[in-house]
Amino acid sequence: MELMKAIRIHNYGGPEVLQHEDAPRPKPAPGEVLIRVHAAGVNPADWKVREGHLKQFVQNNLPLIPGWDVSGVVEEVGAALRPSAEGKQLRFEISLPPDEITLQTDRRALHQILINLANNAVKFTEQGSVRIDLKQHRDDGRMVTEISVTDTGIGIRPEDQVNLFQAFTQIGARRRTEGTGLGLHLSQKMAALLGGQITLQSEPGRGSRFTLVLAEK
Ligand SMILES: Nc1ncnc2c1ncn2[C@@H]1O[C@H](COP(=O)(O)OP(=O)(O)OP(=O)(O)O)[C@@H](O)[C@H]1O
Ligand SMILES: [Mg+2]
Repeated sequence: MELMKAIRIHNYGGPEVLQHEDAPRPKPAPGEVLIRVHAAGVNPADWKVREGHLKQFVQNNLPLIPGWDVSGVVEEVGAALRPSAEGKQLRFEISLPPDEITLQTDRRALHQILINLANNAVKFTEQGSVRIDLKQHRDDGRMVTEISVTDTGIGIRPEDQVNLFQAFTQIGARRRTEGTGLGLHLSQKMAALLGGQITLQSEPGRGSRFTLVLAEK
């Protein structure tokens, strides 16, 4: 068995139950990758898990490793898209939480989804900004990670939002932009494979926000 160093909890309790020790190295499932984490912040809400307050909501198998890091992926996507946004004179912002976030998921799928969303945001925005936000909160004891891409672009009418995630959907009779209309469809499919979904809020003329919501399994 291959080992790695990890901080683990064997029993619920105070900070003294956190142990830095050897742990079996996780085996990535098909389609998953193993990410080497150099530093991981324990989320402020994780003390509740540590003390066992969430036992009745979440069945955690002990020993467990607290903390989940997607900041690196968001930064990569930002680095890839910043030049095209700034080339169009758009402000490009990334907002990450102060603590690193670790998330056991398919890094490539996550990267691809965010690239698709950020690409769209830049493509359909002529003025203003594109922003990526990463947030995490607990919902019923489950850690929920939300990554949203917000633009101040053309927006999407409610009647057009309905079919947006179907294959080959492009809005407008004559498209001026390039593309196949597959990006959102595939992104939604990938999100589902990661156990999540993409939600949309948009107002025509004001902009759009696409949010990838991933709940801890
Ligand atoms: N951020 C956005 N603002 C406004 N409209 C959007 C935005 N994102 C997507 N859309 C609309 O949804 C349609 C579908 O998006 P999708 O990413 O699936 O396809 P595409 O970008 O046209 O092509 P592809 O991604 O396959 O290259 C777009 O053609 C556009 O009309
Ligand atoms: Mg697209």
